[in-house]
Amino acid sequence: AVVLAHNYQTPEIFHGVADITGDSLALAREARAVDADIIVLAGVHFMAETAKLLNPERTVLIPDQEAGCSLAESITAADVRVLKAKHPGVPVVTYVNTSAAVKAESDICCTSGNARRVVESLGVPSVIFIPDAHLARNVAAETGVEMILWEGACEVHERFTKRDIERIRFGHEGVTVVAHPECPRDVVEAADFAGSTADMVSFVRTRRPKKVALITECSMSDNVAVAFPEVEFVRPCNLCPHMKRITLPKIRRALETMRHQIMVDPVVAARARHAIERMLEVH
Ligand code: 13P
Ligand code: SF4
Repeated sequence: AVVLAHNYQTPEIFHGVADITGDSLALAREARAVDADIIVLAGVHFMAETAKLLNPERTVLIPDQEAGCSLAESITAADVRVLKAKHPGVPVVTYVNTSAAVKAESDICCTSGNARRVVESLGVPSVIFIPDAHLARNVAAETGVEMILWEGACEVHERFTKRDIERIRFGHEGVTVVAHPECPRDVVEAADFAGSTADMVSFVRTRRPKKVALITECSMSDNVAVAFPEVEFVRPCNLCPHMKRITLPKIRRALETMRHQIMVDPVVAARARHAIERMLEVH
């Protein structure tokens, strides 16, 4: 078995038992390359489902079936069909933080790590971008592409405010602020850099700020700080209750009992896989 863990998993999972760690994009890429009969996805449900879509023959386990995501829960396949009927011919770009059924209604998926490249690859003036309205606004500002959006949000990142950034700068002179693009637009504008969780790690690695605040989920700084002892991590953060459902004992139980297996309807899976594969072709 191979354990794939998202950057928001607790340090004992991230450093203790994970074989592969990364952001949503890296986990999707690694899931495609994995050479093991069993994949344990230490992350939330949509990540395990993505791994299953890319590995229909393999057993994919999620240690807690209730590990959901406020974004994935904000939209259904029927909602997407209504949007498409309202805007015929406009391509649907779907954040990976969605169910397989929603992906199946989409032209192409994206993550926060490649959203800009995915949107630009389409070469169109407007897209239907679902379901994260904050990410959509941030990508619109970067690309100039008009976004027909859905008012979904990440319950972790939408709680950060511009005032939080001002307070951090006031309390920690010289701090570099790095925000996740699931944060509201004014938070991203107030930051020095915005990027996916993997982009945050690359930023710290290449820029080596003296002090940095990662505006994201709490485990992120804990996991990254180990590799950069000379960097001071200011730790304003919000916990993701879904990510935190995954624990070491639940990972062990998953391996002992082969539960909970991810199953996707084959017809839905074929269409959803197409949208993910199309994303993975964008460089
Ligand atoms: P990334 O790791 O792709 O930046 O995603 C963040 C996130 O919130 C995943 O749930
Ligand atoms: Fe979903 Fe936000 Fe939690 Fe990521 S951090 S799983 S986007 S609720």
